[in-house]
Amino acid sequence: MKAKVKLSADKVIAKVDDRLFSSFIEHMGRAIYTGIYEPDHPTADAFGFRQDVMDLIRPLNVSHIRYPGGNFLSGYRWEDGIGPKDKRPVRADLAWFELEPNQVGTDEFLQWCERLGVSPILGVNLGTGTPQDAANLLEYVNGTLPTKYAEMRRANGREEPYGVKLWCLGNEMDGPWQICGKTAEEYGRIAHETAKMMKWMDPSIQLVACGSSHRQMPTYGMWEETILKHCYKEIDYLSLHMYFKNLDGDTPSFLAESLEMEEFIREVAEICRKAKEEQNGDHDVYLSFDEWNVWFHYEKDGVEPPKWTVGRAIDEEDYDDTDALVVGCILNTLLRSADVVKIACLAQLINVIAPITTVPGGEAYVRTIYYPFLLASRYARGTSLAAEVEAPSYDCALRSAVPFVDCSAVRTEDGVSLFLMNRSEEAAEVSLELDGFGALAACEHVTLTGGEPATAALSGEKTVTLAPMSWNLIRFA
Ligand code: AHR
Repeated sequence: MKAKVKLSADKVIAKVDDRLFSSFIEHMGRAIYTGIYEPDHPTADAFGFRQDVMDLIRPLNVSHIRYPGGNFLSGYRWEDGIGPKDKRPVRADLAWFELEPNQVGTDEFLQWCERLGVSPILGVNLGTGTPQDAANLLEYVNGTLPTKYAEMRRANGREEPYGVKLWCLGNEMDGPWQICGKTAEEYGRIAHETAKMMKWMDPSIQLVACGSSHRQMPTYGMWEETILKHCYKEIDYLSLHMYFKNLDGDTPSFLAESLEMEEFIREVAEICRKAKEEQNGDHDVYLSFDEWNVWFHYEKDGVEPPKWTVGRAIDEEDYDDTDALVVGCILNTLLRSADVVKIACLAQLINVIAPITTVPGGEAYVRTIYYPFLLASRYARGTSLAAEVEAPSYDCALRSAVPFVDCSAVRTEDGVSLFLMNRSEEAAEVSLELDGFGALAACEHVTLTGGEPATAALSGEKTVTLAPMSWNLIRFA
């Protein structure tokens, strides 16, 4: 199969926001307990956090980590998780049917982020929580005044405010599975009032409101419009979530799902644009794609562990080669959407739907989806470019005219990175044309077909061969 990709230096989409390479850790399954936190582990640091896990996270160069949920957030009482550990209560978490011992809470998480060199995104509970609880948490975390919650933080050993800049107003509040889920009107109102209080308390923060839990929700569209009607003035981002599934083994459709994600992004961006126009707005509401990943293996093959234990092993996806390719396609979509998507979180990071897995008391290792994220995070920092792609296409159950070659491109500090997916079972010979970049030569070709990437040096070629079913990084310098 033959294809052509043309890049022009002046066909700019937007700067790629570093926050596109963010992730998510929830109090869910073994993400926290025996995931990042295991005080008895041989590699645990003085705070009980596994350093072998931190060593695997660091190369991913994750910008932000969203915490503490997820569905867990909607029943979370943040005051349970601060102060002396032996005084913290054990609670029943109704989101995941687990025991929550509260041994990791706001301080532990934020200080772990500091040691890791990652910025946090914190969520406030708008399920069982109130606007006042949210304002109290913000005061605890960022407060500078001699007031109750800021003083409480100081008494707990943290003098300096944490200065957390990004906050989520609840999580998936349209979902019937959500603890104290809400109608659009109910959520719009509470999010609006919470946002007002939070921004009055700390005008330097940015806020993310919940969009629909996914594009198939019956209230999708109406939900976004209603939330923006109530909250446009106070918020900076609207969230989107999407999990990719291949339950019936239809791989051509699975590989095409990222194009549905792209349409989802354009639809929500258009709703945000209209809201700004209708309200004579002064700012853009951008998109925070703060949960995305492949998630279906556990649903298909998993065995449900008993409820009501601490850190029960749920949703530990055993990712295969195809899943890594789908993650590559998703990253292409996010890079092509850099004009409207400013935050994106791979959901999640450890054990639960994650690129990194731990064995309690034992090793930590990475799964196939670790590699496309690593490569994009390392080589896609810069300005996203609109590539012109000419390639044959295929029809599948999900949609028609799916191009076999899918491309995103980023102008980096020292050249250009091209990310090319070959969705075909045949090799693809792709001729590359680069206009207006000065003297650039192809220098490296990394091929991912699953497992660890294979790297080959290139010496200036302008035609590359993509292996069947592969995601590729071609670097020009
Ligand atoms: O990431 C797992 C769960 O998926 C989150 O808790 C929720 O927000 C979503 O439904």
